Amino acid sequence: MLSERINRIQPSPTLTISAKAKAMRAAGEDVISFDVGEPDFDTPEHIKEACIRALRDGDTKYTAAAGTPQLREAICRKLKRENKLEYAPDQIVVSCGGKHSLYNIFQSILNPGDEVIIPAPYWVSYPDQVLLADGVPVFIQASQEQGFKITPQQLADCLKAHPRAKAIVINSPSNPTGAVYPPAALRELCQVLENYPNVLIISDEVYEHMVYAPNQQWSVASYNEEFQARTILVHSFSKTYSMTGWRLGWTSSSKELASAMAKLQSQSTSNPTSFAQAGGVAALDGPINTDMLGEFEHRGKVIRELLKDVPGFTCIRPEGAFYAFPKVDGIFGVMVDRNTQINSASDLAAYLLRAAKVAVVPGEGFGAPAHLRFSYATSEHLMKEGINRILQVLPE
Ligand SMILES: Cc1ncc(COP(=O)(O)O)c(C=O)c1O
Repeated sequence: MLSERINRIQPSPTLTISAKAKAMRAAGEDVISFDVGEPDFDTPEHIKEACIRALRDGDTKYTAAAGTPQLREAICRKLKRENKLEYAPDQIVVSCGGKHSLYNIFQSILNPGDEVIIPAPYWVSYPDQVLLADGVPVFIQASQEQGFKITPQQLADCLKAHPRAKAIVINSPSNPTGAVYPPAALRELCQVLENYPNVLIISDEVYEHMVYAPNQQWSVASYNEEFQARTILVHSFSKTYSMTGWRLGWTSSSKELASAMAKLQSQSTSNPTSFAQAGGVAALDGPINTDMLGEFEHRGKVIRELLKDVPGFTCIRPEGAFYAFPKVDGIFGVMVDRNTQINSASDLAAYLLRAAKVAVVPGEGFGAPAHLRFSYATSEHLMKEGINRILQVLPE
């Protein structure tokens, strides 16, 4: 009954674990969550107010498929103010979230068999979305020892070996690793890409505001005009403004690609929710919650220290976003109780949920089978309690 296409992909592993943890909690169990990829802060009041006002004022009808002129103009102002990049409103396509934007991109640029270079560890949805668009994901491995960042040489070798590469995905700050490419490292990657002018660059910058000093955010679209023209920027309201449930994101790209993606939306989802877009304008024109960002930076230091003390784990310090990504293969092969041997990250995550009531996401879905992802969108007190529970159920 089902299509060959739908059978190519897996359900999102992060959402699967979260569903399990939620079900345990609903059954009265006291689960500590390191699994959710969303800030534990509420959407700021002024954004909610703008949305409520829009609802009251009857802003409840279809909008242009690519988003309201007001929001697209606010996005252009933001890109100019914060990113020093000039875009016109017809280069912007507002979508139902960064994930939806990425879906639009792959559907609009890939022909069957086209390859997309994805540095691993990667965010779970990239490969599956490429597969859904009849493309072929090609991975470059970036180990913990190299700070989870690919090198220019690795990129050059990959591009040489894959003449069908249509695009590369760059995600900095990264989910799941928390790595942030320094501007100089990104410039070196751009130098390699200069030799491959037909390769598009998909720059997923949904965590752009979550960068811890002295690390710095920089976009490959800033390299030069030619790079801006071949880069597709992916942004989201979800993380910066704690608006995950609102489902609002956008792309900034060439006009040609923007109108292709608007056409796709016009035949699929139509516009993102009208009153959510009104909230989006207030978000972009208002202040950013720097307290939240400071809190994540603090927690990043705390969790790294806590994880360092877990036997069999090694962990480098997150540079941005809100994820720690320890290597945990020191536990592989170990009998953790009479009947349970841990042979993979998935085994370990399942054991921690069962024995310690701690939810973490195993690395397999991120292309990193020796790692676990800890989201620290949870209070310091609960982080300490969670790591304590882990220490209690693992052998010393
Ligand atoms: C790297 C990355 N890109 C894109 C997204 C999509 O975010 P949303 O669809 O909520 O805008 C996420 C969400 O977790 C992410 O971590």
